Amino acid sequence: MRAPARLASVPASPRLGRRRREGKVELWTEAVGSLPPVYGERWSEFGDRLYRAFDPYRSKLAAALVHDWEGRLPTLGERWLYLGAASGTTASHVADLLGPDGRLYALERSLRPFARLLDLSGRWPNLLPILADARDPARVSGLVPPVDGLYMDIAQPDQLAIARENAAWFLRGAGSACLIALKTASLGRELAPAQHLARAEQTVSAWLDLETSVKLDPFHRAHYLLGGQVRPALFGSPPSSATTRPAVRFRGRPRR
Ligand SMILES: C[S@@+](CC[C@H](N)C(=O)[O-])C[C@H]1O[C@@H](n2cnc3c(N)ncnc32)[C@H](O)[C@@H]1O
Repeated sequence: MRAPARLASVPASPRLGRRRREGKVELWTEAVGSLPPVYGERWSEFGDRLYRAFDPYRSKLAAALVHDWEGRLPTLGERWLYLGAASGTTASHVADLLGPDGRLYALERSLRPFARLLDLSGRWPNLLPILADARDPARVSGLVPPVDGLYMDIAQPDQLAIARENAAWFLRGAGSACLIALKTASLGRELAPAQHLARAEQTVSAWLDLETSVKLDPFHRAHYLLGGQVRPALFGSPPSSATTRPAVRFRGRPRR
């Protein structure tokens, strides 16, 4: 494999680089893992650091960042839960943002992408893959400790209920971050994308203090990324499904 090219300039923040080139915004994350590329992305050296191009056409989070996302982001040393990690395209960049001392619990239901995610985790030490259905958080409660943030990208008609359920199970408490990629086509064709967004914002406002919603066109048509901090009410009210949250929320390994 060819050695990565050298970047002339980068970073604004510790692990996220942003630069403008030929009128376009380029994003880079400092790699926690090692080559080969996860999805064919470019790698570049800057000083003694290795950065990976973060492609807005491949990742909704990158698309939101190109659109000047002002919401919370995964940050150095935090623990996040990712629902719908697929084969790790965005998840690997989230893990990069968390850095080597952070942890990403990456949940995926389908076997084929999960096999690639598992393979990726062998060279991305802070990414922990979990094969499970996000509709059943109780089944993974022993594997996922309380987390600082939740990122969801599962494109299901009941995705907001699933997000709420997992937020209640796994987020540390009020003020924790929640980012939801909303695919309006999965919510039905009877409403326009903007109407779906308005309805979704109304629905989540019961438990999420929304900071921002960003339209992801032209990178991801009719998608939005919503972000905010969970409200105290989330932890005081009963979950929306039949699943009952245990009195002790984390029954697995002790907290680090
Ligand atoms: C749009 S893709 C995710 C792309 C990925 N987030 C990325 O940016 O690289 C949605 C993924 O969610 C998974 N998924 C759908 N429903 C799920 C569920 N109930 N539990 C867990 N994963 C689910 C699908 O198998 C699929 O891999």
